[in-house]
Amino acid sequence: MDLILLGAPGAGKGTQGALLATRLAVPKIATGDMLRDALRQGTPLGLEAKRYMDAGELVPDSVVLGLVREALAGPAAQGGAVFDGYPRNVAQAASLAGLLDEIGRGIDAVVYIDVPEDAIVSRMSGRRTDPETGTVYHVEFNPPPAEIAARVVQRADDLEDTVRRRLAVYRETTAPLVAFYEDAGIPVHRVDGDRAIEQVQDEIMGLLGR
Ligand code: AP5
Repeated sequence: MDLILLGAPGAGKGTQGALLATRLAVPKIATGDMLRDALRQGTPLGLEAKRYMDAGELVPDSVVLGLVREALAGPAAQGGAVFDGYPRNVAQAASLAGLLDEIGRGIDAVVYIDVPEDAIVSRMSGRRTDPETGTVYHVEFNPPPAEIAARVVQRADDLEDTVRRRLAVYRETTAPLVAFYEDAGIPVHRVDGDRAIEQVQDEIMGLLGR
């Protein structure tokens, strides 16, 4: 199954995507995670991406397309993938359709996780990531276990001004993808993401008929 998770920054795409990938036994292809990995490794691609990410702007389409192409070619992705944070605009949606078409696949469904903006701001300010495993926590809603708590870090782009810019970019360029996929006749499942993580996950699995 090839599934796209859409939603504003902080809506829970990464959290739900990790759970879904395990349950559906497919990899999560998360362009944000891949870009942060490249940055940690100090690759030229990571260093180029950094200035866009720190400003809350989208990294150029050509950069992320290369990452997605590579991830889709891996053996783990041969049975499908959960796309988290990709596509981000209509051009990326067209590129993804082309990549999947080349391997005889297409998007099976889109899950749109809907969360009000005030909840999003509190989620972003409390988000912490384990630098060793990439697991995402929240200081209040999903606290890290005691043995991990001392090493979790805050994302550089979770500062208030950057969050505001990321939300604006989302509204302008990514949110229109909901209508784009509906118009294309691909099932778009709308989920109320302002509930407990497990409730959201159960609803998504139900909507996917799993
Ligand atoms: P990216 O990493 O994709 O960030 P994002 O889309 O802004 O989404 P987030 O990762 O912030 O949030 P999320 O929806 O995954 O929420 P999460 O599960 O972590 O992109 C970062 C940057 O990279 C972009 O700004 C851009 O520069 C660049 N980039 C990435 N992809 C790109 C692309 N395709 N094209 C161009 N540029 C690209 O949850 C958030 C917090 O809430 C966590 O603390 C979590 O524990 C908590 N939480 C989750 N669910 C719940 C719940 N139900 N209740 C309570 N708390 C919850």
